[in-house]
Amino acid sequence: MTVPSIDPFHAITLSALAHRLAAEGRSIIHMEFGQPSTSAPREAIERAHHVLDTDPMGYWESEPLRVRIARHYAESYGVEVSPERILLTSGASPALVLALTSCFAPGARVALARPGYVAYRNTLRALHIEPVEIPCGEKERFQLTAELLAAVEPAPDGVIVASPANPTGAILSGPELVAIVAVCRERGIRIVSDEIYHGLSFGDPAHSVLEYEPDAMIVNSFSKYFSMAPWRLGWLVVPEEKIAAARARMGNLFLTPSSLSQHAGLAAFDCRGELDGHVRVYRRNRDLLLAALPTWGLQRIAPPDGAFYIYADVGHLTQDSLSFCEKLLRDTGVAIAPGVDFDPVDGKRFIRFSFAVSTDRIAEAIARMTPWFAARDAESRVT
Ligand SMILES: Cc1ncc(COP(=O)(O)O)c(C=O)c1O
Repeated sequence: MTVPSIDPFHAITLSALAHRLAAEGRSIIHMEFGQPSTSAPREAIERAHHVLDTDPMGYWESEPLRVRIARHYAESYGVEVSPERILLTSGASPALVLALTSCFAPGARVALARPGYVAYRNTLRALHIEPVEIPCGEKERFQLTAELLAAVEPAPDGVIVASPANPTGAILSGPELVAIVAVCRERGIRIVSDEIYHGLSFGDPAHSVLEYEPDAMIVNSFSKYFSMAPWRLGWLVVPEEKIAAARARMGNLFLTPSSLSQHAGLAAFDCRGELDGHVRVYRRNRDLLLAALPTWGLQRIAPPDGAFYIYADVGHLTQDSLSFCEKLLRDTGVAIAPGVDFDPVDGKRFIRFSFAVSTDRIAEAIARMTPWFAARDAESRVT
């Protein structure tokens, strides 16, 4: 068996350039990564200070946090989950590794939407699992559909569902999830659902796959809604029959997540007021960008139902989204992500804006990008 090759994350290269430009004195606006620019909520930080001062800490998995997460499923989705089924992890990334290694052997085939989060494809490859990418375009709202999944031959062993999705923010409706679950049951496909952007919706809240399929593996994290990406904390919900397998993998591969972060994460569940304030900021930022994009000639965008992204087609201006983003960064100081990170085939004509920054920064970014896009538009008419 050969060592699989893994693609680089181009947004990291662009971000490194952005930091070099900043070191040279340039004013940079970071919209390339999907991370809140805000800190952890205030009470979570206070809790962490207290723990640091009073507790020597050690390897630990917080029972109170697992109980609190179980309560969250009852309150937010009306689903009963016993705390035993919840594993605490250092973010969604290790939770995804646990889910995949607990369910699939090397050589298994796992379906996923294209465009999609870059790490799905690469994590699958690293684990010697074959990614089966399903092209999802404008017609499908850039999201997986039951019909597309039903058409994959032979039936894959698993599927990764993501709603709201990265890079689009598109949400799968309840009825579409029900239809996907039905196809999976009929064809024996295990569902891994990445629900990391839950809590960040601009219309109806997203449904958890657990509402429809108790045997799904559910990945979640404190990195997005809870604004705690650098604290590296997340969780995995597993069905009863996978608890032992997932726990054995957690203990051997990762031991436990940070004790300090678990204390802070528990406090973060009581900070809804502050965290919902961030969502209001994202909503304003989204509205500003949605008003600006058409004036730049960007009419074709994926439906930004949730998360904090806008995925836009710039095919009339470029077929090389990486160079396009680099030029935008050098000319304006605004860093965004190229579509090739999310879609190796069609992503060359897409870009992703992450709007998880302050509204002032978004307004400034729009002011810088407006003349820049006008110039690109004028150039494209001449050539
Ligand atoms: C869809 C999706 N899943 C998982 C992750 C990984 O998140 P974490 O910071 O919790 O490891 C990200 C990070 O951006 C993401 O966008």
